[in-house]
Amino acid sequence: MTINPVFTDASPLAPVPPEQQFFTDVVSGLSAGQKYLSAKYFYDAAGSDLFEAITRQLEYYPTRTELGILDAEGPAIAASLPQRADLVEFGSGSTVKVRRLLRHLPDLSAYVPVDVSESFLLSEAEALVKDFPRIAIEPVAADFTRPFTLPDSLHGEAVAGFFPGSTIGNFEPQQATQLLAHFGRVLGRDATLIVGVDLVKDVGILEAAYDDAAGVTAAFNLNLLTRINRELDGDFALEDFTHRAFFNPRASRIEMHLVSMKAQTVRVAERSFAFAQGESIHTENSYKYTVAGFRSLAVEAGWEPGSVWTDADNLFSVHALKRR
Ligand code: TRP
Repeated sequence: MTINPVFTDASPLAPVPPEQQFFTDVVSGLSAGQKYLSAKYFYDAAGSDLFEAITRQLEYYPTRTELGILDAEGPAIAASLPQRADLVEFGSGSTVKVRRLLRHLPDLSAYVPVDVSESFLLSEAEALVKDFPRIAIEPVAADFTRPFTLPDSLHGEAVAGFFPGSTIGNFEPQQATQLLAHFGRVLGRDATLIVGVDLVKDVGILEAAYDDAAGVTAAFNLNLLTRINRELDGDFALEDFTHRAFFNPRASRIEMHLVSMKAQTVRVAERSFAFAQGESIHTENSYKYTVAGFRSLAVEAGWEPGSVWTDADNLFSVHALKRR
């Protein structure tokens, strides 16, 4: 019934990247041959709200499908974890998903949510304490992609990790492999890892999920330009850019871009950037895997693939991995 927050040194990314870093990243991204902006800048207050709204769109199947798998297979997924384990969630955000597992883990010794946002971490932890009074909640404020240490108060007999949401798909495959290897180092020997991974499927279904009819994903993407205008004194005319999301089959990924509708010059602080008509800024990737493809990526990262759970339509997968 305890909350023991551990605040590690702020990494360069946490909790909000300093303005200077944001400016430097925008200048180098907009100066590149294929212009790009880092997806980490999506999540200001408005961006976080828009992202929540994306997960509720009819076309955006991943969130509800993964929740459905966790509901239907919760007992089996929980059974794949050691009984008296500590459960570490990487990039916990809201606790909606992990509740589906905690329900079936009455003997869990601690739940360790790891997130860069300290305030969110603490409010979510307080709500969890009320609903799961027997589990120690030990939040860690850290960027999960960087080295961090688990609280030494952990007393479970084994450590397990949880990484839902197909966030793994937002990393380049090589980075994704490194990230899984990093999770292995953080969790230690004999760890189990539960990962949610979106699957390759019909291109129409995939593309609709990232370009919903209500325009929420478009608003989310364009909000990046609003943020640059506000925080870095930019003059992007939002009506001159449009959201585009498409499946790139060679790379097996959804790409999100912001496309310039006309030839124009945009200014950010004292710098200016020329756009040709139709030229785009690449803002996000979401890699889609086959079950076998993800399992071999896990092997490369030093994990042994175990059970895999999917929905009836094979839209999404949840994998249990064991550290070799
Ligand atoms: N990882 C999820 C996905 O790729 C969530 C996500 C990350 C997302 N960035 C996004 C969804 C941008 C829509 C748009 O689907």
